[in-house]
Amino acid sequence: MEKIYLTTPIYYVNDVPHIGHAYCTLATDVLARFWRKNIGAENVRFLTGTDEHSIKTVQAAEKAGKSVEVYLEEMANNWRTTWENIGVSFDDFIRTSEDRHKKVVQEIFQKIYDNGDIYEGVYKGLYCSGCEAFLKTTDLNEKGECPHHKKPPEKLEEKNYFFRLSKYTKPLLELFRKNPQFLEPESRRKEILSFINSGLDDVSVSRETAEIGIPLPIDPSQKVYVWFDALINYFSAIKNTPHELFWPYANHIIGKDITRFHAVIWPAMLMSVGIEPPQQVFGHGFFTIDGEKMSKSLGNVVSPVELAQQFGKDTVRLGLLSSFEFGSDGDFSLSDITQFHNDKLANGIGNIFYRVLVLCHKFLGGAKPIVLQSKRNEHWKNFSALMQEKKIKSAIDYFFQVMDQTNELMNKTEVWKLVKTDPEAAKKIFAELVDALETLVDISQVLLPESAPTLRKMIGEGSELGEPKILFERI
Ligand code: MSP
Repeated sequence: MEKIYLTTPIYYVNDVPHIGHAYCTLATDVLARFWRKNIGAENVRFLTGTDEHSIKTVQAAEKAGKSVEVYLEEMANNWRTTWENIGVSFDDFIRTSEDRHKKVVQEIFQKIYDNGDIYEGVYKGLYCSGCEAFLKTTDLNEKGECPHHKKPPEKLEEKNYFFRLSKYTKPLLELFRKNPQFLEPESRRKEILSFINSGLDDVSVSRETAEIGIPLPIDPSQKVYVWFDALINYFSAIKNTPHELFWPYANHIIGKDITRFHAVIWPAMLMSVGIEPPQQVFGHGFFTIDGEKMSKSLGNVVSPVELAQQFGKDTVRLGLLSSFEFGSDGDFSLSDITQFHNDKLANGIGNIFYRVLVLCHKFLGGAKPIVLQSKRNEHWKNFSALMQEKKIKSAIDYFFQVMDQTNELMNKTEVWKLVKTDPEAAKKIFAELVDALETLVDISQVLLPESAPTLRKMIGEGSELGEPKILFERI
């Protein structure tokens, strides 16, 4: 039986969730809902969570005047409830401070060490605590800063343990060759292939000075490097549970900023312990808001919960995910979201359901017309093909195309007039219209989970149609 294990990155808790994070989480949610419908909920697992051993966390807790433990608990709850409040249907939420995780990290570390892939050395170089990453001078911008955080990295010199990443150059190239879908989209794949081809250095996997983190089983005076710890979450969440069967069907949905960790270091770690690499890593793009980069100083960092309260969960989800194709960079026009809501949902989906139902009640007495040639399967197949390729924007566009065609059919045939001159012909049109609404309901279970139950009710399950309702008030 086909299985899929969808994961988001686990988020750093020193920050609050913003719509950049929500973008990734909602995309994964849409994929999870699609797969549940396609292969059955029992064959799908959706994991998200929090990455809690970052140095920044300690600083943030201090700033908030709280103990690290209390701070972590509060922030993890904040992330979890944010996702719940915007309708994210995760099956499991992992925190790296949980025992189930720590145990597996130590086991894996020990195994890699036993296999001879971890050795002691001295790390002398650069570190960006914003990225929690060891940088090379070639990674810096012309001002000598970390390009992501626009800050000069710290100079470090400490005793560290290193992972023999260099040993995995060939096996990684082999993985990329054998499985062209291992890393998508294509642009990401090219970039990482050239990175691997340029030769991999061993990487430091411990920190001497970190205040929080998981102690190394081989040297408890050191902590596991936060990325080495974090990547293992995907495995520790299912290890020692019946969900272990979901490995290696993992599809890691991540932002392009963390592709190297997921597509190079993570599979190499797994190779070292003899675990199959994940099925796929998908690195999506970043977006600007109304043409501007999201930043605290510009004051355009948007809270997903506030946005959802203002516009509705379905509008936020579709607005974000339909702005540009999944995998590309793009822009999210916050100033257009009202219009998007009004055009596509209130006057779009809401309107077509309302009109068709009112007409059916008026002229057919609420009986569901019998559909002779349903297009439902064909539409699902087309939609499904796009979703399987993770072309989420195209899949949303397809949904709205079906909506537009349905409107066109109703308007072109003027079915409300036709019913008076040729009732038999009108009946066929009504059947076609209701069949199209069924398709829209099918797809809305994936794309508009908040409204889907109401849409379903309007169409009704048996031979009777439900009552027309006004969904999506205009804003
Ligand atoms: N903790 C690490 C991930 C560990 S996974 C084993 C981390 N966390 S993060 O909170 O800083 O960011 C996680 C993800 O948030 C990014 O990879 C990306 O998916 C998403 N985004 C953060 N800002 C974003 C945008 N402005 N636009 C799109 N996605 C953004 O990195």
